[in-house]
Amino acid sequence: MPDWASLPWLSLPFWRALWPPHLPRKPLHALLLGIVAGLTISLSSASVGLYLEHRRREPLLRRVPPRPIEIRKDEVVRGITGLIGNTPLLRIESLSEATGCNILGKCEFLNPGGSVKDRVALKMIEDAEEQGLLHPNSGSMIFEGTVGSTGISLATVARARGYETTIIMPDDVSTEKRQTLLCLGAHVEQVRPASIVDQKQFVNLARQRALEFGRTTLPQKSLTDAAEAAAKPTPTPPTEDMVVASQASPTEALHQADGGARGLALEEAPRGFFADQFENRSNHDAHYLGTGPEIWRQTNGVIDAFVAGAGTGGTISGTGQYLKEMKPELVVALADPEGSGLYNKIRYGVMFDPKEKEGSKRRHQVDTVVEGIGINRLTKNFELGLPIIDTAYRVTDAEAVAMSRYLVKHDGLFLGSSSACNLVAAIRLARKLGKGHTIVTILCDSGNRHYSKFWNDEYLKKAGIPIDLSIVADLVDGRERTTS
Ligand SMILES: Cc1ncc(COP(=O)(O)O)c(C=O)c1O
Repeated sequence: MPDWASLPWLSLPFWRALWPPHLPRKPLHALLLGIVAGLTISLSSASVGLYLEHRRREPLLRRVPPRPIEIRKDEVVRGITGLIGNTPLLRIESLSEATGCNILGKCEFLNPGGSVKDRVALKMIEDAEEQGLLHPNSGSMIFEGTVGSTGISLATVARARGYETTIIMPDDVSTEKRQTLLCLGAHVEQVRPASIVDQKQFVNLARQRALEFGRTTLPQKSLTDAAEAAAKPTPTPPTEDMVVASQASPTEALHQADGGARGLALEEAPRGFFADQFENRSNHDAHYLGTGPEIWRQTNGVIDAFVAGAGTGGTISGTGQYLKEMKPELVVALADPEGSGLYNKIRYGVMFDPKEKEGSKRRHQVDTVVEGIGINRLTKNFELGLPIIDTAYRVTDAEAVAMSRYLVKHDGLFLGSSSACNLVAAIRLARKLGKGHTIVTILCDSGNRHYSKFWNDEYLKKAGIPIDLSIVADLVDGRERTTS
């Protein structure tokens, strides 16, 4: 232990010796007193500040169970769900060097089901089990309307948990998603893309199929039961987000979440469960409790911005909310593809995309080759993010395609369309923030989900989408080819 008191600059004689002898002594005392008082005040106010910040974060940190980031290194995990989450954070060298910022990508394509949606599938099923809505190995069927990724994740997790899945998807998504679903043993129904107001829209159909499940697919106990069941009106969807149907007693099962009386027979009866990723809060929570805390730990809090696209809105709202709570000045930015209304919602407060008017749509839902993000309605999961999303960037198909090819060429990174879209927006934000900032985004899935469209040069040519890598160089240099 050093003897601090014996240090010369802490002693009055030391300072007296330095003081010019012809000057009076009193100002020296006043000066010394001022220095000591100033130091004391600034040190104690800094400590109070640090203490208050620690107090603010403590309850937030306590809410998150610690999950070791390097779980995959040397641990044996139990079952495939043990591989979900804890994905690495990758510094994308080419883009980081080009922008002078740290451009970091969360490698969600390394989840066992191949995308960020594994987290959501697991959380939706776990929450439903916890609420008593689903019971493993009971012959229950999970229904979902999805453009593919959530379906694949649900089918993967459902298999591991003892459920069947029925996936309703538009018929214009890349064919390899359907093939993967069939390999996983999911029941797949493909329908024409339609507006959400149409009862045949894929999400509406999934809800309908879940409600029908209990009444149509179970063997009838007796003729009387069958007649009674047929006479019963179609159960109206509950006001809650969750739709669960069971033949044991459709009405009773619909309200399981309310804690209504239920016997063992009812619990064991096969259920039709509508996962409802767009409106189900478990989606947001999967990211609030998983993706957000992981990014915070992986960056040690050295993060200036978070960028993500929105399909359901779960990723941007859940992750963004967590990060913003940890660091209120962090920028949360939306990456929005062509034809989606969310960009206008964030920038101008209204959902409107000029392309809707032009009548030149390649797809009915959102007019883009990018799959998984972009939507023209406000979902509950996106609404949860409205208070924390600061800005939005419009990304063209040509920009997303150029980015995907650039990353393969410079980094050996083979990514899907939404990841490329996120990185275009990240570059725009990097230019705005300036050098030296850290921007994190999501690498949602791999390019191998997109061979038939986004990664198919012939398809792009027919759709009139150029493959021009110089677009990325222009982006980095701030030579904007679009208006956003
Ligand atoms: C490949 C892909 N990327 C990104 C997203 C968007 O994520 P979120 O639904 O959390 O907004 C999706 C959603 O389905 C997706 O399939």
